[in-house]
Amino acid sequence: MLVMALLVALFVVIVIIARMVAGDGETELSEAQRAAIAEQIKPVGEVHVGSAPAAAPAAAQAAADPAQVYQQSCFACHGTGAAGAPKVGDKAAWADRIARGREALYKSAISGKGAMPPKGGNASLSDDTVKAVVDFMVSKSR
Ligand code: HEC
Repeated sequence: MLVMALLVALFVVIVIIARMVAGDGETELSEAQRAAIAEQIKPVGEVHVGSAPAAAPAAAQAAADPAQVYQQSCFACHGTGAAGAPKVGDKAAWADRIARGREALYKSAISGKGAMPPKGGNASLSDDTVKAVVDFMVSKSR
Protein backbone atom coordinates (compact mmCIF):
# COMPACT_ATOMS: atom_id res chain seq x y z
CA MET A 1 0.00 0.00 0.00
CA LEU A 2 2.83 2.36 0.89
CA VAL A 3 4.59 1.46 -2.35
CA MET A 4 1.40 2.16 -4.25
CA ALA A 5 1.05 5.59 -2.63
CA LEU A 6 4.68 6.42 -3.48
CA LEU A 7 4.16 5.40 -7.10
CA VAL A 8 1.06 7.61 -7.36
CA ALA A 9 2.92 10.54 -5.79
CA LEU A 10 5.82 10.02 -8.19
CA PHE A 11 3.42 9.90 -11.13
CA VAL A 12 1.82 13.17 -10.06
CA VAL A 13 5.24 14.83 -9.75
CA ILE A 14 6.24 13.58 -13.22
CA VAL A 15 3.02 14.91 -14.72
CA ILE A 16 3.58 18.32 -13.11
CA ILE A 17 7.18 18.48 -14.41
CA ALA A 18 6.08 17.39 -17.87
CA ARG A 19 3.47 20.17 -17.96
CA MET A 20 6.00 22.79 -16.91
CA VAL A 21 8.42 21.68 -19.61
CA ALA A 22 5.70 21.62 -22.24
CA GLY A 23 4.48 25.03 -21.09
CA ASP A 24 7.95 26.51 -21.54
CA GLY A 25 8.07 25.09 -25.02
CA GLU A 26 4.85 26.89 -25.95
CA THR A 27 6.20 30.35 -25.05
CA GLU A 28 9.33 29.81 -27.16
CA LEU A 29 9.16 32.12 -30.24
CA SER A 30 10.64 31.47 -33.62
CA GLU A 31 12.90 34.11 -35.21
CA ALA A 32 10.15 35.00 -37.65
CA GLN A 33 7.64 35.56 -34.84
CA ARG A 34 10.12 37.79 -32.95
CA ALA A 35 10.71 39.83 -36.09
CA ALA A 36 6.97 40.19 -36.68
CA ILE A 37 6.39 41.41 -33.12
CA ALA A 38 9.34 43.80 -33.27
CA GLU A 39 7.87 45.20 -36.50
CA GLN A 40 4.49 45.78 -34.84
CA ILE A 41 5.78 47.50 -31.71
CA LYS A 42 8.56 49.61 -33.26
CA PRO A 43 8.31 53.41 -32.86
CA VAL A 44 6.29 55.22 -35.52
CA GLY A 45 8.97 57.71 -36.64
CA GLU A 46 12.53 57.11 -37.68
CA VAL A 47 15.15 59.79 -37.18
CA HIS A 48 17.61 60.50 -39.95
CA VAL A 49 20.57 62.65 -39.05
CA GLY A 50 22.96 64.32 -41.43
CA SER A 51 21.21 64.04 -44.79
CA ALA A 52 21.86 66.94 -47.15
CA PRO A 53 19.24 69.71 -47.34
CA ALA A 54 17.13 69.53 -50.50
CA ALA A 55 18.17 72.94 -51.82
CA ALA A 56 21.39 74.79 -51.10
CA PRO A 57 20.65 78.18 -49.51
CA ALA A 58 21.35 81.31 -51.55
CA ALA A 59 24.30 82.22 -49.33
CA ALA A 60 25.99 78.95 -50.26
CA GLN A 61 25.51 79.71 -53.94
CA ALA A 62 27.08 83.15 -53.59
CA ALA A 63 30.27 81.43 -52.49
CA ALA A 64 29.98 78.76 -55.16
CA ASP A 65 32.92 77.82 -57.35
CA PRO A 66 32.54 79.68 -60.71
CA ALA A 67 33.66 76.60 -62.67
CA GLN A 68 30.92 74.58 -60.99
CA VAL A 69 28.22 77.22 -61.54
CA TYR A 70 29.33 77.42 -65.18
CA GLN A 71 28.85 73.66 -65.55
CA GLN A 72 25.40 73.82 -63.99
CA SER A 73 23.94 77.00 -65.47
CA CYS A 74 25.92 78.00 -68.55
CA PHE A 75 27.58 74.94 -70.07
CA ALA A 76 24.37 73.75 -71.75
CA CYS A 77 24.71 76.64 -74.20
CA HIS A 78 28.28 77.90 -73.84
CA GLY A 79 29.85 74.45 -73.83
CA THR A 80 28.08 73.37 -77.00
CA GLY A 81 27.27 76.53 -78.93
CA ALA A 82 23.54 75.81 -78.54
CA ALA A 83 21.18 78.67 -79.42
CA GLY A 84 24.13 80.39 -81.15
CA ALA A 85 25.97 80.96 -77.86
CA PRO A 86 29.68 81.82 -78.14
CA LYS A 87 31.50 78.64 -77.09
CA VAL A 88 33.88 78.90 -74.18
CA GLY A 89 37.40 78.43 -75.56
CA ASP A 90 36.44 79.71 -79.02
CA LYS A 91 38.75 82.75 -79.09
CA ALA A 92 37.34 84.12 -82.36
CA ALA A 93 33.78 84.07 -81.00
CA TRP A 94 34.83 85.95 -77.86
CA ALA A 95 37.40 88.46 -79.20
CA ASP A 96 34.87 91.11 -80.20
CA ARG A 97 32.80 90.63 -77.06
CA ILE A 98 35.84 90.86 -74.77
CA ALA A 99 36.89 94.01 -76.66
CA ARG A 100 33.61 95.70 -75.61
CA GLY A 101 34.76 95.53 -72.02
CA ARG A 102 34.09 93.39 -68.98
CA GLU A 103 31.20 95.56 -67.71
CA ALA A 104 29.25 95.06 -70.95
CA LEU A 105 29.62 91.28 -70.63
CA TYR A 106 28.51 91.37 -66.99
CA LYS A 107 25.44 93.36 -67.97
CA SER A 108 24.52 90.95 -70.79
CA ALA A 109 24.97 87.90 -68.55
CA ILE A 110 22.94 89.41 -65.68
CA SER A 111 20.16 90.95 -67.77
CA GLY A 112 20.17 88.52 -70.68
CA LYS A 113 20.96 89.07 -74.33
CA GLY A 114 19.37 87.67 -77.50
CA ALA A 115 18.59 84.01 -76.93
CA MET A 116 20.23 84.08 -73.46
CA PRO A 117 17.81 84.54 -70.54
CA PRO A 118 18.93 86.69 -67.56
CA LYS A 119 21.61 84.85 -65.55
CA GLY A 120 21.44 82.01 -68.07
CA GLY A 121 17.96 81.22 -66.73
CA ASN A 122 19.12 80.58 -63.14
CA ALA A 123 17.56 83.49 -61.22
CA SER A 124 18.89 82.15 -57.92
CA LEU A 125 22.45 83.21 -58.84
CA SER A 126 23.67 86.44 -57.26
CA ASP A 127 25.02 89.18 -59.54
CA ASP A 128 28.48 88.64 -58.06
CA THR A 129 28.34 84.93 -58.84
CA VAL A 130 27.35 85.66 -62.44
CA LYS A 131 30.24 88.14 -62.75
CA ALA A 132 32.66 85.54 -61.36
CA VAL A 133 31.39 83.03 -63.91
CA VAL A 134 31.78 85.58 -66.74
CA ASP A 135 35.39 86.13 -65.57
CA PHE A 136 35.89 82.35 -65.62
CA MET A 137 34.45 82.04 -69.15
CA VAL A 138 36.49 84.98 -70.46
CA SER A 139 39.71 83.61 -68.92
CA LYS A 140 39.12 80.37 -70.86
CA SER A 141 38.38 82.19 -74.10
CA ARG A 142 41.09 84.79 -74.66
C1 HEC B 1 19.98 79.26 -73.09
C2 HEC B 1 21.36 79.28 -73.53
C3 HEC B 1 22.33 80.09 -72.69
C4 HEC B 1 22.65 79.92 -71.37
C5 HEC B 1 22.08 78.89 -70.40
C6 HEC B 1 23.65 80.90 -71.05
N1 HEC B 1 23.92 81.66 -72.16
FE1 HEC B 1 25.26 83.16 -72.24
N2 HEC B 1 24.76 83.48 -74.20
C7 HEC B 1 23.84 82.75 -74.93
C8 HEC B 1 23.73 83.30 -76.25
C9 HEC B 1 22.81 82.78 -77.35
C10 HEC B 1 24.62 84.40 -76.30
C11 HEC B 1 24.84 85.34 -77.47
C12 HEC B 1 23.88 86.47 -77.28
C13 HEC B 1 23.98 87.51 -78.40
O1 HEC B 1 25.08 87.97 -78.65
O2 HEC B 1 22.92 87.78 -78.95
C14 HEC B 1 25.26 84.45 -75.00
C15 HEC B 1 26.21 85.40 -74.67
C16 HEC B 1 26.86 85.46 -73.45
C17 HEC B 1 27.88 86.42 -73.10
C18 HEC B 1 28.41 87.51 -74.03
C19 HEC B 1 27.47 88.67 -73.88
C20 HEC B 1 27.81 89.83 -74.81
O3 HEC B 1 27.46 90.95 -74.42
O4 HEC B 1 28.38 89.58 -75.85
C21 HEC B 1 28.24 86.20 -71.81
C22 HEC B 1 29.27 86.97 -71.01
C23 HEC B 1 27.44 85.10 -71.34
N3 HEC B 1 26.61 84.66 -72.36
C24 HEC B 1 27.52 84.58 -70.09
C25 HEC B 1 26.71 83.55 -69.62
C26 HEC B 1 26.76 83.04 -68.27
C27 HEC B 1 27.67 83.56 -67.18
C28 HEC B 1 25.84 82.06 -68.20
C29 HEC B 1 25.49 81.19 -66.98
C30 HEC B 1 25.14 81.88 -65.78
C31 HEC B 1 25.22 81.94 -69.50
N4 HEC B 1 25.76 82.86 -70.33
C32 HEC B 1 24.23 81.03 -69.81
C33 HEC B 1 23.12 81.67 -74.46
C34 HEC B 1 23.14 81.19 -73.18
